[in-house]
Amino acid sequence: MFRFDLQHECDGARRGVFHTPRGDVQTPGFMPVGTVGTVKGLTIDQVAATGADMILGNTYHLRLRPGHETVARLGGLHKMCGWDGPILTDSGGFQVFSLGALNRVTEHAATFRSHLDGAKIELTPEHSIEIQQALGSDVAMVLDHVIALPASATEVEDALARSIRWAKRCRDVADRPEQALFAIVQGGLDPVLRRQCATELASMPFEGYAVGGLSVGETPEEMYATAAITTEYLPPEKPRYLMGVGTPRDLLENIARGIDLFDCVMPTRNGRNALAFTDEGPIKLRNAVHREDTRPVMEDCVCLACRHSRGYLRHLFNANEMLGPILLSHHNLMYYGRLMREARAAIEAGQFSEFATMKLRGWGFEPM
Ligand code: GUN
Ligand code: ZN
Repeated sequence: MFRFDLQHECDGARRGVFHTPRGDVQTPGFMPVGTVGTVKGLTIDQVAATGADMILGNTYHLRLRPGHETVARLGGLHKMCGWDGPILTDSGGFQVFSLGALNRVTEHAATFRSHLDGAKIELTPEHSIEIQQALGSDVAMVLDHVIALPASATEVEDALARSIRWAKRCRDVADRPEQALFAIVQGGLDPVLRRQCATELASMPFEGYAVGGLSVGETPEEMYATAAITTEYLPPEKPRYLMGVGTPRDLLENIARGIDLFDCVMPTRNGRNALAFTDEGPIKLRNAVHREDTRPVMEDCVCLACRHSRGYLRHLFNANEMLGPILLSHHNLMYYGRLMREARAAIEAGQFSEFATMKLRGWGFEPM
């Protein structure tokens, strides 16, 4: 039911289509984050208008509220939130790491206290899959052990080995043909460990492979080098997903290293904070320079924000009006969506490197 068609390759970048029972996902592609069953501030139609094919939901958050069984009784995640395209759910591994105060990881499970009411919850690999089955996502992620960087070699190796054992346990219980399961490569910044983890997971039957454990405090160059070494050892006929990344620059640099899918809160979170992505780099709409600026954020953007002046958007943020975050979230997701569309076209035309160089220069970075 899941198939990845790799159509073009150019300068390390890949153009493909990931076929799912709920529709095709064009790659390279960006998945807007809908942590609790909503892409914050936007309606499903507004999200679709950005060109997104697949959105993301979170096991950890939905397990706590409203509860995976409640989601199931509301007809599943698709029915509940109204998105009938593919949905990928993250396993909870990263949220236990990033949100869970008092969390503890043993071979059996990651145990954490709810950030809502302090209740103690045990997340085993089996329970993570059970939750993702109840949510009814199209792509489930294995439960992994994420650690902060820098970490000692022993810590990185332990987390990697546990992530591989947990991936096997997830594979053993994930038995639904209509739900794909993606493995997650860990291994910190160590190329030997990344290669080992990628090779081991690649020998097991997953429908796709993610690169995890990045965007946790390393430099962009370290992230790009780690993505490059990891994709080298992943099967070319399966999609590759870089989790939790990143800036527009991160997207292009990692596409050039063989990544097909991304997700990140950056466009929506920054939009809520009055920051807009443009071809000249990010602009901060709270700044006084925009007070009487009659220009839109971007001249040729067809989003809801760019029907208005920068001056009006600044006013909305200054007045704490809810429309400001809504409009800029839409602009930023539209910007990411268009960037991915243009990247796909550039790969098809055999000009990815030229395209990336032009974009990077506009943002103020050195060409690839
Ligand atoms: N989101 C961002 N990074 C990660 C990761 O390493 N693991 C998981 N499960 N989710 C992530
Ligand atoms: Zn716009």
